Amino acid sequence: MKHLSSAEIRRTYLQFFEQRGHTIVPSSSLIPGNDPTLLFSNSGMVQFKDTFLGLEQRPYSRAVTAQKCMRVSGKHNDLEEVGPSPRHQTFFEMLGNFSFGDYFKREAISMAWDLLTKTFELPIERLWFTVFAGDDEWGLGPDEEAEQLWIAAGADPSRVLRFGRKDNFWVMGDTGPCGPCSEITVYLGDDLSKMTPDGVNSDDPDYVEIWNNVFMQFDRATMQPLPRPSVDTGMGLERMAMVLQGVKANYDTDVFTPIIQRTIALLGSDEAHYRANFAQYRAVADHSRAVAFLIADGVLPGNTGRSYVLRRILRRAAYQGRTIGFDKPFMADVIETVIEQMGDAYPDLQLRRQFILETTDVEERQFLRTLAGGITRLGGVINQVKATGSTVLPGEDAFTLKDTYGFPLDLTQKIAAEQGLEVDEPAYDRAMAEQRTRSRAATQFKRGAEAEVWSDFELPATEFLGYEHYAASGRVLALVSGGDAVSAANAGQPVQLVLDRTPFYAESGGRVGDTGVLVGRMGASTSPTRSAPSRA
Ligand code: SER
Repeated sequence: MKHLSSAEIRRTYLQFFEQRGHTIVPSSSLIPGNDPTLLFSNSGMVQFKDTFLGLEQRPYSRAVTAQKCMRVSGKHNDLEEVGPSPRHQTFFEMLGNFSFGDYFKREAISMAWDLLTKTFELPIERLWFTVFAGDDEWGLGPDEEAEQLWIAAGADPSRVLRFGRKDNFWVMGDTGPCGPCSEITVYLGDDLSKMTPDGVNSDDPDYVEIWNNVFMQFDRATMQPLPRPSVDTGMGLERMAMVLQGVKANYDTDVFTPIIQRTIALLGSDEAHYRANFAQYRAVADHSRAVAFLIADGVLPGNTGRSYVLRRILRRAAYQGRTIGFDKPFMADVIETVIEQMGDAYPDLQLRRQFILETTDVEERQFLRTLAGGITRLGGVINQVKATGSTVLPGEDAFTLKDTYGFPLDLTQKIAAEQGLEVDEPAYDRAMAEQRTRSRAATQFKRGAEAEVWSDFELPATEFLGYEHYAASGRVLALVSGGDAVSAANAGQPVQLVLDRTPFYAESGGRVGDTGVLVGRMGASTSPTRSAPSRA
């Protein structure tokens, strides 16, 4: 078996498929441009979804990518697993080769076999292959089905297993392309005689699934065949690194060790301290990567959607850092290592280095201030609850902490758990739902009012300069505050502006809006409203 660094694995994969007629396509943003229903790109196929469906044509029919992915969302997510678990991550890289109506199972399996056994030189006797039990029904004939193709390539028939729809039929969601799939699992155990089919698709850490080959055949919405059968594959880079570096945790690969070493150096701690507190160090390592890549892709910390996910991850890392001894902001220092390490493969990290570091630092400092206030308040609540002899922290209090102090629920739960208390989550959810209803009603009312004001102006279209310029001069055509057209605004008063020309990109189509400064003719201390035309 070859021993390869993560950068070598990425490069080898891309080159292997490039030599076989694939175009190397850059990773798309973590923010899917073509799918408002998806919070983050969660696999390599996301940027090609419409190509599979035949809605978009590309100048190539074979592609290969290393794709930035995030798998963390909503209430039911794995965030709490990140740290304690040796393999869970929020941000990860997926290597994938794609055929858009070009090759299908035969070539996909033959190339996968060669990459794994000849290029990476994985031991054949440790490889397991799963196939969809329903493959027989779809009429390609046994010689063209995954099971026979793996065996023809050289797999031991006893290690090619059939599984049902749950494990081996891949769907993106309720819509999008889908099809049967075939997964490759490597046995990492020390004793080959203990290897058993029951380990595959189980929680046994000795079995690691490294690669999924999906044979895209149908449109999920209609279950009609796609224009042409296609291929979508996804290999977890960090898992492959684990296998090829002979370790049993993603966090023991070169993807994470430099970040963990940096954390140890910043803390002035040592290997023993890391081993005793590995969950916190690993959470910091994972979250630093997620934060760096999210900010590089234009997400800013905030209270809704993607911005909230970023805020939550950043704050969770900052909190975990405190519990292992950091008493000052440290995240930006850790993220410097992420940028050094990943900047070659993802140049946006280098280009936006300063912005990433500053945004992280500002958010972490703000969190540390709210944390101090929140901890005092939470301490009071915990004492009150304990005084009554209860072990349940009221959900309403947890909600107030979130609403007022920006304390995420998981943080309150963690601190409460340290004191033997459990948060009443249903009550928290109810308080949250009530607040959402209130704020939705308020927003709709305001939007309606503001839309009416805009239509009164009959304004010309704004000229967008942002493709060429970060700074430009222009005129304020209109000013709205609180749903009313106004001719001036006071310091601190939130307003909406319409400009005749602007380098600011507005939030739309899954992109986050630009932020920046508007300066009046007389300089920073002058209100920008001075340049407004009289009709505004
Ligand atoms: N889309 C498939 C997956 O996520 C293969 O990349 O597993």
